[in-house]
Amino acid sequence: MLNSAYKKVSREDLQFFQLTLGEGNVLIDGDSLNSHGRDETEDILCPPEVVLIPADSGQVSAILAYCNENFIPVTIRGAGTGLSGGAIPVFGGACISTKKLNRILQIDEDNFQVTTEPGVVTEVLQNAVREKGLFYPPDPASKGSCFIGGNIAENSGGPKAVKYGVVSDYVLNLELVLPNGKIINTGANVLKNATGYNLTQLIVGSEGTLGFVTKITLKLIPHPKFDKLLLVPFKDAVKAAEAVAEIAKSGITPSGLEFMDRDAVDLALRYSEEPPFSLEADEEAFLLIELDGNKNAELDETLESVYLLLQKYPVGEVLFAENSVEKERLWKIRRGIGEAVKRKSVYKEEDTVVPRFHLPELLRFTKSLGKKYGFSSACYGHAGDGNLHINILKNDLSDDKWKHELPIAIRELFSEVKRLGGTISGEHGIGLVQKEFMDIVFSPIELQLMRNIKKVFDPNNIMNPGKIFPD
Ligand code: LAC
Ligand code: ZN
Repeated sequence: MLNSAYKKVSREDLQFFQLTLGEGNVLIDGDSLNSHGRDETEDILCPPEVVLIPADSGQVSAILAYCNENFIPVTIRGAGTGLSGGAIPVFGGACISTKKLNRILQIDEDNFQVTTEPGVVTEVLQNAVREKGLFYPPDPASKGSCFIGGNIAENSGGPKAVKYGVVSDYVLNLELVLPNGKIINTGANVLKNATGYNLTQLIVGSEGTLGFVTKITLKLIPHPKFDKLLLVPFKDAVKAAEAVAEIAKSGITPSGLEFMDRDAVDLALRYSEEPPFSLEADEEAFLLIELDGNKNAELDETLESVYLLLQKYPVGEVLFAENSVEKERLWKIRRGIGEAVKRKSVYKEEDTVVPRFHLPELLRFTKSLGKKYGFSSACYGHAGDGNLHINILKNDLSDDKWKHELPIAIRELFSEVKRLGGTISGEHGIGLVQKEFMDIVFSPIELQLMRNIKKVFDPNNIMNPGKIFPD
């Protein structure tokens, strides 16, 4: 349907929502609408017409069926920590919050599984399974505030992906409410499944455009007993990126292999309350390397091998975290980069990913593109996965250049990423802000196939319209 055919939320609609959810769970005050009109993506505001807060699958089903029949666009919202504008209600309509769907339903210690609702904070879920000796590894930087449902929607990653994989590697089964209100299961709570199309994996990463996930069953693994963390300064950023591939080739699989360039670290240290180290003049980049396992002595040996391997690179003094407090301080610097960039300048965040070996080329290209177009960038990310977050800073760039030249520069960047065998989002999703670049990585036929899938699930195009697909 055409966007203009969406219906505005009327007084009758509000009455229906109030009757279904209770008055307190239907919000139309200005503050609520505004706070649900933005997420952590740059500076975009598109308030919904109403915020709905269901508490179970039945209520979700009732309001979705109603919105579907009445052509009211729907945007699902978790914690609002997304970085691609996925939760921004660009056509207004109803924003449906998952915050009351916040129960961990079952931790199955016999089968190493957890079943949860989508509104549980990722770290809360991790801690709950940890108490049983179990491990749910995907740990986005925002793990202390993001919801597991949002992680499913974006197929999030995080530092541990290099060893343990991303969210999709852990999702076994989903309860999904279709736009017409019907409730389905996408799979089964089993570790192997060769039964028909894999609907579970289709929903993971679909950014709330196909249905509403109300229950999630995740695979768990035993929690490793020990971990080690070291911070390695490099006098040459490209060499740091080269070392990443060499560590992997040596047969060592760290549980974290993070890259941070000087600008990124400088910002994070500047906004840190307790900076755990200071920058030396000749340091261009850092690798934060974590190793984990069940045998402490073996880990020490591996740590030694990593240290020796790095000696042929131009490295400075390596910092070994001695205890959990020191580890947490170093991780805090790494996780704090995104926030620090936000405080410094207007910026644009890219989430490029290339085969790991091509990371040095990507880094070189990014910095030379910056020189050509006059922007600086803070680059950091999950180097072990070839996933580089490129934060382009506006600083003193004119509004005109920012508005008209930057999209050309980004197109050039993404074309290079594609040439290197990569793609334009590793873990943040396409959402609103990357959709105009989808033609770089997908042909018209491939995009049409995806649009057709969307139509099968959501013929009235009410689920998170205006996302993923170029206009
Ligand atoms: C991080 C987020 C931005 O890695 O993905 O910090
Ligand atoms: Zn990241």
